[in-house]
Amino acid sequence: MLVTLRVRRFNPETDLEPRFQEYTVDVPEHFTVLDALITIRERIDGTLAFRYSCRMAICGACGMRINGLAGLACKTALRSALNDGTVTLEPMGNMPVAKDLVVNMEPFWHHLRTVRPYIEPHPARIGPQNEYRISPELVDELSEVVRCIMCGACFSDCTVDEIDINFLGPAALARAGWLVRDPRDSRAADRLRELSKPHGIWDCTRCFFCVQVCPKDVKPMEQILRLRRLAVEAGITDNNGARHTQAFVDSVKETGWLDEFTLVPKSWGWNPVALLPELPTAVRMLVRKRAPSPVHPRQPGVDEVRNLFEKTERKRSVKDDA
Ligand code: SF4
Ligand code: SF4
Ligand code: FES
Repeated sequence: MLVTLRVRRFNPETDLEPRFQEYTVDVPEHFTVLDALITIRERIDGTLAFRYSCRMAICGACGMRINGLAGLACKTALRSALNDGTVTLEPMGNMPVAKDLVVNMEPFWHHLRTVRPYIEPHPARIGPQNEYRISPELVDELSEVVRCIMCGACFSDCTVDEIDINFLGPAALARAGWLVRDPRDSRAADRLRELSKPHGIWDCTRCFFCVQVCPKDVKPMEQILRLRRLAVEAGITDNNGARHTQAFVDSVKETGWLDEFTLVPKSWGWNPVALLPELPTAVRMLVRKRAPSPVHPRQPGVDEVRNLFEKTERKRSVKDDA
């Protein structure tokens, strides 16, 4: 099978700009993207840089963007990635390029270190005499996160990290989600408080990219949403994110639809100093006649909406009691 790999190349030590280089190779149909890259390096261009180790989706080393989306080169069948006989390969995003397809993952590791990604048992409970009990259901849930191989694909394509590199990011938050619920860890409350600060759980925009690109089906966004619920249940609500969620819920429950006029002040708190940075946006909305109306009547049929809320809350409390 004759294929063309279009590879983004860049050496920060010698190049001013990245460029694309095309390699055409004849490879067997069963090859993965990584197999094709190795063939190119062995037969055509020994200077092409990419990283790999296990070649079986275990080590997380071969993360790169394949046709624009992050993934593992060793887990991606070349045939499935071809568009008119060509596949485009680029380094992962949100991390500086070290060379060609190799990125420096320090921003990713930095965020992971920030969440203290290890179990911290209570000192009094350390030792073989102590037993921790965990339900099979919780083991199943936590094993979703344990599957993470730290490949960085989710971090690469996270739309919030793209604009705010201080956002802890999907993998670190998913890991924290595991530790908060692990009975062996003694810092759940502290962790939830730290994660509720700016750049934490409330900054995720739920864009789904981390769920889409994760090669191990960790579903980081779902872990983040679970952390939000746990934080609210723990009474950690003195932050914009929790207030925003509550304002959203209150508005829909009360009137059947979202009151956009009061959403921002209710989220930020009725504090003129905190609201001041939003003033230019408010003025622009007024000028463009996009400002929401201060009049917010109840919608007909709002009782049905309330019934839905009540049903959901009842279901959740039954589930929690079980
Ligand atoms: S869902 Fe949240 S964490 Fe995941 S990629 Fe989007 S913004 Fe990032
Ligand atoms: S959560 Fe998925 S995409 Fe993110 S680092 Fe772990 S395995 Fe990779
Ligand atoms: S080489 Fe190890 S995950 Fe791809």
